[in-house]
This record gives sequence, C-alpha cells and structure tokens, in this order.
Amino acid sequence: MTLLKEPDHGTPASSSVQMVCVEVDGVAVTVPAGTSVMRAAAEAGLSVPKLCATDSLQAFGSCRLCLVEIDGRKGTPASCTTPVEPGMVVHTQTPRVERLRRNIMELYISDHPLDCLTCPANGDCELQDMAGVVGLREVRYGFAGENHLDAPTDSSNPYFDFDESKCIACSRCVRACDEIQGTLALTIVGRGFESKVSAGGTNFMDSECVSCGACVQACPTATLSEKSVIELGIPTRSVLTTCAYCGVGCSFKAELRGDELVRMVPHKDGGANEGHSCVKGRFAWGYATHPDRVMAPMVRDAITDPWREVSWEQAIDYAAQRLREIQNTHGVDSIGGITSSRCTNEEVFAVQKMIRAAFGNNNVDTCARVCHSPTGYGLKQTFGTSAGTQDFKSVAHADVIVVIGANPTDAHPVFASRMKKRLRAGARLIVIDPRRIDLVRSPHIEAEHHLQLLPGTNVAVVNAMAHTIVDEGLVDTAFVTERCDPALYREWEEFIRRPENSPEATEQFSGVPAAEIRSAARIYAAGPNSAIYYGLGVTEHSQGSTMVMAMANLAMATGNIGREGVGINPLRGQNNVQGSCDMGSFPHEFTGYRHVSDTVVREQFESLWGTVLQSDPGLRIPNMFDAAVSGEFKALFVQGEDVAQSDPNIHHVLAALESLELLIVQDLFLNETAKYAHVFLPGTSFLEKDGTFTNAERRINRVRPVMKSKIGMQEWQVACDLSTALGYPMHYDSAAEIMDEIAALTPTFSGVSFALLDQVGSVQWPCNPEHPLGTPIMHIDRFVRGDGAFQLTPYVPTDERSTRRFPLLLTTGRILSQYNVGAQTRRTANVAWHEEDVLDIHESDAELRGIADGSWVTLASRVGETALRAHISDRVPPGVVYTTFHYPVTGANVVTTDLSDWATNCPEYKVTAVEVSPNLHGPAESVSGRSDTEADATVSR
Ligand code: SF4
Ligand code: SF4
Ligand code: SF4
Ligand code: FES
Repeated sequence: MTLLKEPDHGTPASSSVQMVCVEVDGVAVTVPAGTSVMRAAAEAGLSVPKLCATDSLQAFGSCRLCLVEIDGRKGTPASCTTPVEPGMVVHTQTPRVERLRRNIMELYISDHPLDCLTCPANGDCELQDMAGVVGLREVRYGFAGENHLDAPTDSSNPYFDFDESKCIACSRCVRACDEIQGTLALTIVGRGFESKVSAGGTNFMDSECVSCGACVQACPTATLSEKSVIELGIPTRSVLTTCAYCGVGCSFKAELRGDELVRMVPHKDGGANEGHSCVKGRFAWGYATHPDRVMAPMVRDAITDPWREVSWEQAIDYAAQRLREIQNTHGVDSIGGITSSRCTNEEVFAVQKMIRAAFGNNNVDTCARVCHSPTGYGLKQTFGTSAGTQDFKSVAHADVIVVIGANPTDAHPVFASRMKKRLRAGARLIVIDPRRIDLVRSPHIEAEHHLQLLPGTNVAVVNAMAHTIVDEGLVDTAFVTERCDPALYREWEEFIRRPENSPEATEQFSGVPAAEIRSAARIYAAGPNSAIYYGLGVTEHSQGSTMVMAMANLAMATGNIGREGVGINPLRGQNNVQGSCDMGSFPHEFTGYRHVSDTVVREQFESLWGTVLQSDPGLRIPNMFDAAVSGEFKALFVQGEDVAQSDPNIHHVLAALESLELLIVQDLFLNETAKYAHVFLPGTSFLEKDGTFTNAERRINRVRPVMKSKIGMQEWQVACDLSTALGYPMHYDSAAEIMDEIAALTPTFSGVSFALLDQVGSVQWPCNPEHPLGTPIMHIDRFVRGDGAFQLTPYVPTDERSTRRFPLLLTTGRILSQYNVGAQTRRTANVAWHEEDVLDIHESDAELRGIADGSWVTLASRVGETALRAHISDRVPPGVVYTTFHYPVTGANVVTTDLSDWATNCPEYKVTAVEVSPNLHGPAESVSGRSDTEADATVSR
C-alpha cells in the first residue's frame, strides 16, 4: 500500500548542476539554479499556498496565491515564477502576504458553488484545502453578483465530466494537454471574468481530445472529475502496480475505496511514464470485473459438447490424464504450449518450465513469435543482445528521430507524448511508413520527410539510406574503427555501395523519390544524436529480421549507439512481450536467450530442476499448427492468447485447432480459440496478479494485486498444479520465489528480486553485480557481443505481390482506444471511439470500384475473404488499404497469409495482396461463420 497523495513541489525540478543557497523562513536550503522559490520552499519542508502551480507543469503565475516577500525586492512576487538567486532571503508567511492571499481566495470562493459537502471532490480539492490554508473565514462580496454558478456540465466523455461551474480558470488542464499529452485540445477562451476552458468550441467527446486524463489529473477542483469518483466517492487507499496494455509499461496507483477500485492514477515516479497515461491504462480497466469473465474451470470431451463446469482438481486431473494418454500414444513431442505476453514474467516462466520439465520437450513458443521475434534475432546478430538499446527518457536528448513502421500516438501513446515534447522542442523528424500517421503532421510538429514507401520495401529504403551515407562519406569512421568488427564492416561497405542499393535504383520499386531518401540519410547521419524507433511495420515482414539488422547497420555506421539520444528502439506491442521472450519462451532458448543446445547452460537448469531436458529446439507456433494439420501434433496448452483471432491465415489456424485431440485454453474469457478447446482454465486479470512485467525499455516493473484473485489462486499456481499432476512436482510459495529462481538461472536477471523492486521501483536488465541498479542504456563502451557486427542485408522482394486479381496491398495496425484482439477494450466504454474495424481506402481506388464512404465492402485475398465498412481516407496512398484487427466479427486475419520472416517465422501481416469490392449483403456470416460474441458457447452447469 502506498500513500494516496504524492508530494507536489509546485514547479518542475531544475536539471542545472550549478547549486544556489537561499534562506526561506529562516531555513537555509541549497537547490539547483533555475529552481523556483516555491520549489526551494518545498525542499526546505515549507509549503507555499498555490492553485495554478503543480510540479508536472511549467509555472504559469496566474492565480497569485503563492505571493511571498523577498528581502531587498519591492512588492510580493509569485513564488512559482520567481527563480532563486544566490543569498536570497524569502518570507512566505508575513501578515502582508497572508492578507493578500485571503483576498484572492475570497474572490475565487465568491464565484464557486459552496456545495463542498456533497461535491465529489470533497476531501480531494485543492481549492478547499487552500481556503483552509489561507485562513479564509468570510466572503465579503456575497454570491448575488455576476457568477458562473449555472454553467453547464459536459458529460459527453464516457469516463469524466467537465462541470464548468466549478472552474477557477487556472489553466492547469490546458497546460497538461499541451505540455504533457501534446494534443493541444483545450484553450482558455475569453478574457477576465469571461475566461473559460474550451475543448475547441465543442464538447470533449467531439473534440480533438484523446481522453488521456492528464487534464483531469491536473485539475485542482472538481471541475474535471472521473465519473467513477462521482459515483463511488473519493478513494481511501492505493496500491502501486503496472498497466497491462502496451509495452510502454506505465506505473499506476490503483486507488480504492474499501475493496472497490475507484480510479487509476499514473504514478509520478513511474520510470516509464512519470505521471502520464493514456485512455486505456487510466480508464479501460472495467473488463476485469466484466460479467463475461469465466471464474470456474470447464471441460468437455468434444468441441461439439456443451461445457461442464468442474472443480479445479477435476479440471487439472482431466487435462493431465489426457496429455499423458496422448504422449503415450503419439510420443513425447506430440504436445506443446504457447505462453502469453500479457501474463507476468513469473506466470510465463512457470508455463515454459512446465512444458520443458513436465511435458518433457521444448515445444514452447510465445505470441512474440508473431510480433517482435525479428527484433530478438536481428539485434542479437548485430549488437549481441535481444532487446532495445535505450530507456524512454533518452528521447529527450535526440536531435533526429526516425520513426519506422510504428504509430506511437495510437499504439504507444505515453511514449509518443514524450517524443512529441522533444519534437516540439526542435528535434527533426523522419517518418518511414506507407500510411500518413498522425505524427507526420500534428500540432507544432511536422515531419521533415515522410518516406511513404510501398509495403514490403523497408529493407530497400534503409539500405538506400546506408548507401547514401557510405557514398557521400558520412560514415563515423572513428566509431566504426573503435567499436565494430573491421572485416565485417569492409564486407558490408562493399555490399552497400553496390548500385542496386542506391536510392536511384530503390526509387523504382519503393515509390520513394531518391532525393528524399538521400536527404533523410544526410539528416540522420548529421545527428548529432539520431535515434530510430520502430514497430511491427518493421518486424512483421518476410524480411523482418533483415530489416532489424539493416537499421542496426545504419546506427553503427553513423555512431548512433551507446549514449543518450540515439539507439535502436523497438516499441513493443503487448505489455510483457519483452518479458515473455526473456523468460525462455522460445523453443530454442532458455531464459536470457541461451540456446538449449548449450550443454553448460542446460546442465544448470537440469541440476536446479532435477530433470533431464531436451537439447534440440522444439516447434515454433506455425510448425505446431502445420504438424497438427498433418496429424503429428495432438495437444496444445494456450496461455492467455487468442490465436484463432490474432494469428495469420485463420483458416489454417482453425484447421490446426480442429485437428487437435486436446486443446487447453487459459484465459479471462471464452475467446475464439476457446471454441475449439476441451479444457478451459480461468485466468486472472492484471488487477489480481502478483509478479512483474518487463516493458520495451527492459524495465522490470512490479504488478501487485489490487483485488483478490477471482479464481481463488494466482495463475502460476495452475501451471504448478498441472505440472505436478503430470508427475513433475512444481511448487512455489510466492511469485517472489519464482523471481528468485529466474535470477538464479539468468545472468542478466541475477540482481533482480521483489525486495529490490519494492525498494527502488523498477530496474532495467541487465541487473547483476556489475549493474546492481540495472542498465538504462546498453552498449556504452562496447557491444554486448564485443565488436559490433555489420550484417549483409540484401533486399529480397516478398513473394506477396499485387497481381491483376489482387491489385491492392493490405497493411494492418491498431487504434488508440482498442488493444490487440480487443478482448479487454471491447468490454469497456472504449467502444465509444471504435465500434468496428473499418477499411481505409484511397479515394481513387474507391472511385474505381464504385465504393462509397461507409459502405460495406468485401476484402479478399488468395487465402480468404471478409466484409467490413470502407472509410475513404487520404492517410493511405493509392494502391494501399489498411485495417485494424480488434473485432472477431471482422476477422482481418482471415485474409492475411502464412508468409513469414525467413529467420523467425514472424508472419508477414503487413503485406497482403487483396482486392476490395462492393458488398451488397453487409456483414452477414462473411467470415467462416464467426460471431461477435465470444461468450456464446453453451455452458452446462
Ligand atoms: S483528456 Fe487528455 S487529450 Fe483530452 S483534453 Fe484532457 S489532456 Fe487533452
Ligand atoms: S477545468 Fe480545472 S484545471 Fe482547468 S482551468 Fe478549470 S479549474 Fe483549472
Ligand atoms: S501507454 Fe500503454 S502502458 Fe501506458 S497507460 Fe497507455 S496502454 Fe498502458
Ligand atoms: S501558484 Fe503561483 S501564481 Fe498560482
């Protein structure tokens, strides 16, 4: 449990290294130059009354409540906007300032509804607090004059209300939206008495607002209040935990009243988010208590039978018995499992251990296979470690930011806010993406280059940038000589100089003008600090791993590795993608990316686990599906994944699932995959879990139980019980004990423990005796592998080409309000922003096919077809269409193919040749008879 209120020092900390000594109310205090008098007072343990100031925002100086007297200065300056000076003597509590503050407060209160006792913010209102602090006893002006007491309330946002009658026009909300979120949705309109907050002249829901909640958090009064607080009351206690949505890994205080969760407040000291959040983490947690959740285990002999609710013992015994029967009949390798990037490190570790030790094979894979497996492979080959190089804070030092195949404002919103802050401060931006993502042009931000390449030509474009750098003598030869393998560099230089890698040659098929590629390359090489951020638009290609290596080559050639402001930074999709990879979920690797064939490593595991482990890699997910279809693979355990919706070429996936003799699904909901299951084991939501998640910057964050487990146990205990029933006893007393085992077996985690995390908040691996508090930035003096290894990255066009029959290229992605297959966000009020998946199509392509905006269309590829509504958009160029995959009824992955990355089998979601045609029949059963209701399976109780 943590303190409910975090201290507020009034103004942001100064980063100056120069120190200044001042005296405040007789207390000597030394602070960095540039610190405000208000903050210096706070550091001295004194508190100056304030309303418009808060330490997450730059000082504004509008309320005048923070007046002080300073020796040798006339008047009463505002302490929030006055920086300290050496020798300054400050008085914060003189009769003069106290009288002035009471007068100011009187004016505020005379125009404020005095309904404190029934106000939702009663006890959590800074205006109320400050009235007490300044000793306000009477309001001389009366309430009869002109006022705002009848101003309306805007309830349009599903999560918060804006009660204008309570607004004191302090502008904290406006500044939060500008400075923290970077959306600039709010303004103060009018002057003086007429001043009021406006969401662009409309209500919040119809405005540019993205519902991040920063304004709600910044508001000192009840003007902007969470609906949940209005309904349930002010929280009384809090638990510190981590968001379970994306790979940013934001820390939150889950605030409760009794045992009821009232709101999620982003934690100021959260290393990844520093007090900010997005709509998903702050508001979209209601799915955890949604009635669709299944709380009891269920079994059935055939998928055509109704489910039978059974006890945990019966379910485990049933699953274990059938797994053993199948192995006895079809061999030890006929079964396997998939771990989930939504689960904690401890849960993932337990499942992969169960598979290796109790199933007795290495048939374990993770959903990271279908998103960031090329990141692991590509960065390991070039730098020696399978993870991003920087912490998020590093972006504040970047001079050039290159965003490739990522859409941070939708998919990694809190990091996008950090990035936008740096861009507004002057960093240069290059976007490489087939779509015009928001970052290309947004308030005060404009990309210098948007290289709008044809899907599938990433490698060619990045090679052409590298060609320019070599061709024009822009290589950082000192870095290359000192830090990289010389022979590999020479080989690469010879390769990249070849004419086929020139921008001029690349222009022919990528669609990006050579001059733009050359200019972008020059900007990147000039830096001085250039950073690459990338997403699934890089990895989910047949050349995903090649592309990761091509970017790493570019960074090495220009010396953009090993310090703040540079690096190669994967923006990870799910909350624990990094962790699930770290935890030994790949069929060829134990924890910490050590190969199963490494005898020394394997013996360590064998000795601690007391069993013999296989030395050959097991099956990857696509191999498991192929083997199922061909009859060699018979049983699968799926932890918290919906492969029947998320994996490519759904028809093939369904054929595989149907072929299984036993499918065990552990999840919150009866998802699409569960329709093919024989055993359903309930899972826990993040609000019940005890463990850790590892985010995109390798940061290990604690996940603490906010509420009691609704299934009566922790999820890792289920894996232990199943393992024990299979004859390999597995037992832990706590998640902390599992982490101790991970630390004992994994050099990069050897310093990690729950005790350390509870003490310091979070650490970024490697965390070991050499780096006891973790490693924010990697490869500082040398690469983990020693010398940086340039790799040859020839561009090989994908086999997926547009043809006469399928002339358009489909690329897929996600939207801010929804998450992955939507199982969580579709069960929250976030559906208000995105009710269905739609197909973005350029006007010229739509016109050619007689397609009107909003009309139903059939989207067909060589493997399948589906129906959805068209949205005519200039975000996609002619020849390219785009959709999301959040709704099972759309089943976008019915059309994606099983082409995949040559090195890792990561599917090529981002390029599918398709045709789009008018569909007069609407949605119907266009997608293999799918329904939109996951909980529609019959259950007999
Ligand atoms: S919720 Fe976020 S985006 Fe919307 S107005 Fe408030 S700060 Fe701006
Ligand atoms: S809504 Fe709140 S934060 Fe915004 S100006 Fe009014 S009182 Fe200040
Ligand atoms: S940015 Fe990601 S981790 Fe942070 S609150 Fe939003 S969804 Fe959660
Ligand atoms: S707090 Fe300083 S002027 Fe408002």
